[in-house]
Amino acid sequence: MSWQQVCTTDDVDEDAIEEFDVGDITLLVANAGGEYYAFPPNCPHQETPLSMGMIEGETLICIKHLWQWNLRTGELGDNAESPLLKYEVKVEEGAVMVNLEKELKYNYQ
Ligand code: FES
Repeated sequence: MSWQQVCTTDDVDEDAIEEFDVGDITLLVANAGGEYYAFPPNCPHQETPLSMGMIEGETLICIKHLWQWNLRTGELGDNAESPLLKYEVKVEEGAVMVNLEKELKYNYQ
């Protein structure tokens, strides 16, 4: 698999996060101010589902211990101790396309 349509821009409201399955891969798509981002379904900290997370501007916040990441730049924000893995995303005529060449996974201890 490589570039796949995961959803349309209408499927994810602004400042919302939705979960999708593409084949065997589950991923989340966030709409942060009209920009779309895709990442694995669980927090890199303790596997909390990030579908319950919050979007504030460009920032994704895990509700459990409030780790934060800038979705656009990838910078670690407040509390975060490890990076958020992100898929490449492009939007083509309302289709949210994600590069699923390889499933992104964290190594939980
Ligand atoms: S589980 Fe997400 S910040 Fe701890």
